[in-house]
Amino acid sequence: MEKKFGILFTVSLWCLAAVCSASGSSYLVDDSGGLGPRFDGIGGLSGGGATSRLLVSYPDPERSQILDYLFSPNFGAALHILKVEIGGDAQSTEGTEPSHMHSPDDENYQRGYEWWLMKEAKKRNPNIKLYALPWGWPGWVGNYTNSPYTDIKQTIGYVMKWLQGARTVHGLTMDYLGIWNEKSYTKDYIKLLRKTLDSSGFQNVQLVASDGKFEISYDILTDPELAAAVSILGFHYPGTYVTKYTTETRKTLWSSEDYSTKNDNVGAGCWARILNQNYVNGNMTSTISWNLIASYYGSMPFGRCGLMTAEEPWSGNYAVEGPIWVTAHTTQFTLPGWKYYLRGSGAGHLDLGGSYVSLTDGKNFTIVIETMTHNHSQCIRPSLPPYTVRAQTATFDLKGMFNSIKSLNVFYSKPGYGGNSSVYFMNKSPVQVVNGQFNLTLYPDEIYTLTTQAVGMKGKYPDPPQTKPFPTKYTDNFDEYPIYSEASYFTDQAGCFEIRNSGNISHNLVMQQVATSFPVNWCNDAHHPISVIGNHTWRDVSFSIDVHVLPSSGAILALRVDAGGCGAAGSEGIYFWLGGSGKYNVTTDMEGKSVVMNGTAPIIGNTWATVQLTVVGGEAKGSVNGVEVFDWVNIPTVLPHHGWIAIGTPDYSAAQFDNFAIHSAS
Ligand SMILES: *[C@@H]1O[C@H](CO)[C@@H](O)[C@H](O)[C@H]1NC(C)=O
Ligand SMILES: *[C@@H]1O[C@H](CO)[C@@H](O)[C@H](O)[C@H]1NC(C)=O
Ligand SMILES: *[C@@H]1O[C@H](CO)[C@@H](O)[C@H](O)[C@H]1NC(C)=O
Ligand SMILES: *[C@@H]1O[C@H](CO)[C@@H](O)[C@H](O)[C@H]1NC(C)=O
Ligand SMILES: *[C@@H]1O[C@H](CO)[C@@H](O)[C@H](O)[C@H]1NC(C)=O
Ligand SMILES: *[C@@H]1O[C@H](CO)[C@@H](O)[C@H](O)[C@H]1NC(C)=O
Ligand SMILES: *[C@@H]1O[C@H](CO)[C@@H](O)[C@H](O)[C@H]1NC(C)=O
Ligand SMILES: *[C@@H]1O[C@H](CO)[C@@H](O)[C@H](O)[C@H]1NC(C)=O
Ligand SMILES: *[C@@H]1O[C@H](CO)[C@@H](O)[C@H](O)[C@H]1NC(C)=O
Ligand SMILES: *[C@@H]1O[C@H](CO)[C@@H](O)[C@H](O)[C@H]1NC(C)=O
Repeated sequence: MEKKFGILFTVSLWCLAAVCSASGSSYLVDDSGGLGPRFDGIGGLSGGGATSRLLVSYPDPERSQILDYLFSPNFGAALHILKVEIGGDAQSTEGTEPSHMHSPDDENYQRGYEWWLMKEAKKRNPNIKLYALPWGWPGWVGNYTNSPYTDIKQTIGYVMKWLQGARTVHGLTMDYLGIWNEKSYTKDYIKLLRKTLDSSGFQNVQLVASDGKFEISYDILTDPELAAAVSILGFHYPGTYVTKYTTETRKTLWSSEDYSTKNDNVGAGCWARILNQNYVNGNMTSTISWNLIASYYGSMPFGRCGLMTAEEPWSGNYAVEGPIWVTAHTTQFTLPGWKYYLRGSGAGHLDLGGSYVSLTDGKNFTIVIETMTHNHSQCIRPSLPPYTVRAQTATFDLKGMFNSIKSLNVFYSKPGYGGNSSVYFMNKSPVQVVNGQFNLTLYPDEIYTLTTQAVGMKGKYPDPPQTKPFPTKYTDNFDEYPIYSEASYFTDQAGCFEIRNSGNISHNLVMQQVATSFPVNWCNDAHHPISVIGNHTWRDVSFSIDVHVLPSSGAILALRVDAGGCGAAGSEGIYFWLGGSGKYNVTTDMEGKSVVMNGTAPIIGNTWATVQLTVVGGEAKGSVNGVEVFDWVNIPTVLPHHGWIAIGTPDYSAAQFDNFAIHSAS
């Protein structure tokens, strides 16, 4: 497929380090035969789910600095696309995100942090593209059948409300909209969604389908109406390749979720390789990182799998990681709407390993080259077939528009491995171009950007505050938050907990469980709403909280909760369940199956009570209003030895919480 320009030649290099000779090849960069597809940009995904949960609780100036590293043009990652979850009250990987409609007659656009994040991104880059996608849905969507396709009109009505709320309440217009993350689609749903968008003033919202594997390609080939409804085929973790059917669709192709790798130097290598090779191998014109920023407890599944890390709002510490600068290699020197060069005349593989991708807007030229080795660029998935990279000299021959340029500005990265130090986004001396030609000696594990653009900046703020563990004494009366937001550091793992007005002047604002039914789930939701906080390494903890429960329901206090994310439903720990009927029990599992104690407790429905749970050494104790309810000595050693603090409700009904206090923790 690739046209190789000129003949392969060998050059001898001076003995540099261990490399005494390296063969060189020549690569044509030529637009005279036309350019390739439109470049649609590099993006980050907030959500899928709750991946930015801790970010919103950061103090300033750190919070604003982090946002600059992500979104400000010419500073850090300078992202072109922000993809967000349309919250569905359902567990979507690191937690739940709230729905704009907990029930059919509910509607609210002040919940969660995605609105805030989109506005902060737009403030920094008004041209950033927005892309929205649902993971789970509230149970009522689909009339409690656990499918959003039972009543597609109802489901489309729900999605349209979100788009309208975005526009009218927040002034946010989506550029792209997806179907149902990594789940099924129906052709009827996609077609009716397109028609509804067109007839409701959302003609410019392009549909991406179907944020999953390749099946949609066959349906696109065989159903012209579907093909017309879908603007972009979006695939997840394609491993840089697409299928034959996919190519035959002639559609715009994206890797609409990719990366998901720990943001160390191997993660940076993964990201550098796929950003180039998703185009070189798969003709994909956008790549979106799951996730945007690792802003959830590091002990949750997929800890640190974001472009950077901000998981300590209580200390203000954060870390700008390699993937930020790898992103900058492309984003700071291109914009959506630029064109890729065709493969074989400006993009392709390097003969001794690695790849190159050229882009232009007709006036400016940028080429990104990477030589990431196999061991240093493996992503979490799919597995990467072996290949080798060797030192090489590459000659690039510029023909066409840029034949007469005299020099190119250079940015360079070399992530360090095995104790070697890292270089990221270093501005090197320009490379001279002679008669449209320049040579570059490339070693393994390097990233180069050469560009006609005079921009490019490695943004830098003063070092953030030192890292600190979650405080072992901590209180929150929930009175300092905007209504409908979420209390700092609590991360909901089932159901949704929002700040609400208690209607009682002594309690003022409280934290309330507000999801109204088990969701149309994306992964395995727990049947009991629960929110975790604290430090997963804590073993001995004492905490208290005021609860106000319905007579027919109750509240849960728990310690040593050992699992979050899609594993939360199966978590173990010590769970103290209190019923509004005045009964209690203690279980060692989240699903409430293994009861170790039960009895009566002085809890009265619709009345506030202070509940305390303490685990110290081998003993667990619970009390209500200072009166001991249970004392469990010699708790078995098979129980988790550590985990989070949690509060919850035994079913999807309302309960209020106030005056949370961690008395001791270790
Ligand atoms: C779902 O419920 C709504 C509201 O009750 C009703 O109008 C609609 O007909 C139901 N849809 C189906 C497919 O049962
Ligand atoms: C690559 O995708 C573009 C559309 O984005 C299409 O026009 C072109 O034919 C594709 N090329 C190949 C080789 O598949
Ligand atoms: C491209 O180059 C032109 C002229 O040199 C400049 O005005 C324009 O801002 C550049 N485009 C980008 C995206 O930097
Ligand atoms: C890659 O990693 C494997 C497993 O750790 C190791 O055996 C192999 O030597 C490494 N290859 C290179 C080229 O470093
Ligand atoms: C560290 O750097 C040295 C010198 O450049 C190189 O030979 C070695 O392979 C590097 N180690 C790793 C693990 O990449
Ligand atoms: C690039 O290398 C080739 C082969 O050694 C040489 O002929 C050519 O002059 C070099 N070009 C530049 C611009 O240095
Ligand atoms: C939990 O505590 C350990 C030990 O003090 C500390 O290393 C870790 O950073 C803490 N994590 C959090 C999330 O506070
Ligand atoms: C309001 O809360 C206080 C303190 O918990 C309680 O004593 C009082 O009875 C509550 N008032 C009502 C009307 O529930
Ligand atoms: C434990 O107590 C809670 C709260 O009263 C109740 O909902 C649950 O059914 C009880 N579990 C068992 C197994 O009795
Ligand atoms: C405790 O559990 C036992 C066994 O399930 C049950 O018979 C008893 O009624 C329960 N006690 C209370 C107070 O709920």
